[in-house]
Amino acid sequence: MGPTGDLSACPFPRPSPTTYHAYMTSDQPPRPRRPRYKGTHPRRYAEKYKELAPEQHAAELEKVAARGHTPAGTHRPIMVAEILEVLAPWPGEVALDATLGYGGHTRELLPRLLPGGRLFGVDVDPLELPRTEARLRALGFDDEVLQVRRMNFAGLPRLKAESGGFDVVLADLGVSSMQIDNPARGFTWKAEGPLDLRLNPQRGRPAAELLASLDEVSLAELLVENSDEPHAAAIAREVHGREVRTTRDLAERIRSALRAEGLEEEENKKALQRTFQALRIAVNDEFTVLDQFLSLLPGCLNPGGRVAILTFHSGEDRRVKKAFLRGLRDGLYTQVAPDPIRASSEERHSNPRSTSAKLRWARRSPG
Ligand SMILES: C[S@@+](CC[C@H](N)C(=O)[O-])C[C@H]1O[C@@H](n2cnc3c(N)ncnc32)[C@H](O)[C@@H]1O
Repeated sequence: MGPTGDLSACPFPRPSPTTYHAYMTSDQPPRPRRPRYKGTHPRRYAEKYKELAPEQHAAELEKVAARGHTPAGTHRPIMVAEILEVLAPWPGEVALDATLGYGGHTRELLPRLLPGGRLFGVDVDPLELPRTEARLRALGFDDEVLQVRRMNFAGLPRLKAESGGFDVVLADLGVSSMQIDNPARGFTWKAEGPLDLRLNPQRGRPAAELLASLDEVSLAELLVENSDEPHAAAIAREVHGREVRTTRDLAERIRSALRAEGLEEEENKKALQRTFQALRIAVNDEFTVLDQFLSLLPGCLNPGGRVAILTFHSGEDRRVKKAFLRGLRDGLYTQVAPDPIRASSEERHSNPRSTSAKLRWARRSPG
């Protein structure tokens, strides 16, 4: 069956809440003593024992998920049924999850490759990756079927050398909910933390350093190029030359820049989100590594292999669309998504993060 975009033909059932429950509850390791905190609720992230060990609080997480929220410290995979349909994983095939994250998509893909198949799970994040690997190993995925690698997906040829090529490739771009939930990572303006924004905090320089190194014009250009920020000039004027070390420092500067414009609060929030996103893209060099990944991809897919990519903003989606169309024109792909697939209204309602997601796919030519 080829990818069609018509989900009525989907051979796999949509994952039910019980799938989620099973993932959260199985094979739980013994509970360590949790840190003490003052008052009735932990205030500091380091004391938030549920966020730090979500799999040990499955019943509470289930309740949070049923209310339409993503439980802190976890991540809900997006468009699982749609991805399974377009990737059509089959026993014996070799897959790559290029953005392992919480392992949500891998958890669904890997059983469909068995018996005989295997999956390479890759992520740059040295903090979350070991926890995800432990969670997946506890579900019974041993290193015969699951190889976990900490690396950037731009290093795809190294994986090809190891795997011999892929029948199925998935990339779910951007950041996971666990990364956003941890204030020490600095991914959100909603919590106080160092302005870092690195997916791998052991490499490169944090966003605060990048900001300090940019002149006003370069900062405005960065905000436009990476996030189409309409208030880029005003934000750059307000930020440049000031000490901006934390997420709150930056949020205050942005709000102060926008005050004169008299915007609705919703518009202020969008500008905050776009500015953080633009800095994250710059700090992690996200467009460069995505372009590298897209150009290396056809050479790493086996004949007839399928790739699916989930994007979350126009800068990413434009790149994926162009690369797939170029591959189609050059005969590297036989089929590509005519239009992006969007999350169902049901999923958008239950997981608002899926609202901006666009899924594109391509199929490698047979020869
Ligand atoms: C949206 S999350 C993936 C969630 C995952 N699909 C799941 O269901 O749990 C994106 C992940 O990709 C990782 N990532 C982003 N860019 C990457 C890159 N260039 N190479 C490897 N991993 C990357 C991030 O660290 C993050 O963990």
